Amino acid sequence: MRSVPTPRTFRVRNFGCQMNVYDGERMAELLAARGLEAAADGDEADLVVLNTCHIREKAAEKVYSDIGRLVKGSGRDGGSPPMIAVAGCVAQAEAEEIFARAPAVGVVVGPQAYHRLPALIEQAARGVRALDTEMPEDTKFAALPRRRRASPSAFLTVQEGCDKFCTYCVVPYTRGAEISRPFKDLVDEAHKLVEAGAREITLLGQNVNAWTGEDETGHLVGLDGLIRTLAKLPDLQRIRYTTSHPNDVTEALIAAHGEVDKLMPYLHLPVQSGSDRVLKAMNRSHDAEGYLRLIERFRDSRPDIAVSGDFIVGFPGESEPDFMATLKLVDAVGYAHAFSFKYSPRPGTPAAAMTDPVAREVMDERLQRLQAALGRHQFAFNEQSIGRRCPVLVERRGKRAGQWLGKSPWLQSVLFVGDAAIGDIVKVELAEAGPNSVQGQLLERALA
Ligand code: 5AD
Ligand code: SF4
Repeated sequence: MRSVPTPRTFRVRNFGCQMNVYDGERMAELLAARGLEAAADGDEADLVVLNTCHIREKAAEKVYSDIGRLVKGSGRDGGSPPMIAVAGCVAQAEAEEIFARAPAVGVVVGPQAYHRLPALIEQAARGVRALDTEMPEDTKFAALPRRRRASPSAFLTVQEGCDKFCTYCVVPYTRGAEISRPFKDLVDEAHKLVEAGAREITLLGQNVNAWTGEDETGHLVGLDGLIRTLAKLPDLQRIRYTTSHPNDVTEALIAAHGEVDKLMPYLHLPVQSGSDRVLKAMNRSHDAEGYLRLIERFRDSRPDIAVSGDFIVGFPGESEPDFMATLKLVDAVGYAHAFSFKYSPRPGTPAAAMTDPVAREVMDERLQRLQAALGRHQFAFNEQSIGRRCPVLVERRGKRAGQWLGKSPWLQSVLFVGDAAIGDIVKVELAEAGPNSVQGQLLERALA
């Protein structure tokens, strides 16, 4: 590599999950604190950080086509491409391969090392490719600057990594072992986010409900304890959390849904499959019946709770009866929302070595049938909410003039026209259901 001027402007491009969005924001804050400027929309940046996702093959391959596009560097002064930093889970999993396949990449930095990004950029500017995929003991969080800006709905990573080792999943390898951030750090960061304009905070973790910590009195508390403490922040109006694992659900968390007004009636609880045989092969350590019982308990505590899930179709050995069991579970739960994916073998995971793959056409067909069922349930959920009057947190302008887009307590996208501003919580009557959103009528401006 040849040396290049130290970059003055940057852009962070996020792919994948909400935790990457959070990490992307923190990287941007770090670079800004070091004097770099965020490139304006439409302008080319001296440094582009690709914050990548490794969960499925398609997501992972995307980074190489993006690098190719950046290298073309068309339109830049003198035609030189920007400095490219690859961050996120592809960086962690494929560090050497990235350098081998993409000579233009100057920096590769894993998700637990990005607080060291400024030094890595300096090194790359000197013409020496920089790599850091360590998972250091000292957490990155302590080395990151204070939060100063937040959108009305902000993310806060409370837990990272995963010890569950589902046989298809790369997360335990790319994000490392389960760690919980300390209670006090989280309360401080939540304060900062609220001061900076957040009205809703979504607590993030790969297994967020495995979070534990010592509260201000030294007592060991779980996620429910953290939620109850954050609910006391006067200017914080809404709390959410994602993603939960069935095995880490506690009675106390279920009870919190019935008792804490600010905790929104929404639960993302992936099940992946409705077949006990497949769940076993996936090493999920729960069965379909146990999952259904959990959902029932959440509904006893908070009857209107919207349930969301993740599904994988075409896991090795999945038979038609296995798949039918998934459809049966979907009907039994009545999901308000869900994500569904075709199984993608990931290098280094136990499932990648399994024989008995499901044929591509079969996978395609199952995904279509599953998505049709999930779509029906989502629409039914939206329809049964018609007539409800509820608070909506305004997040952005809609596409039409005078239109706004916000979120209902059940995380539906609500579109309405009227006098409002981003960050307002307004009262809306839900009036007309669509497959992916609901049209509402503004009743009252700025409730809180
Ligand atoms: N193939 C397909 N989907 C996957 N997921 C995780 N690993 C894979 C894989 N190898 C899905 C799971 C998980 C979500 C984040 O991504 O449904 O809950
Ligand atoms: Fe992956 Fe399973 Fe951990 Fe979720 S619980 S991050 S699917 S290994």
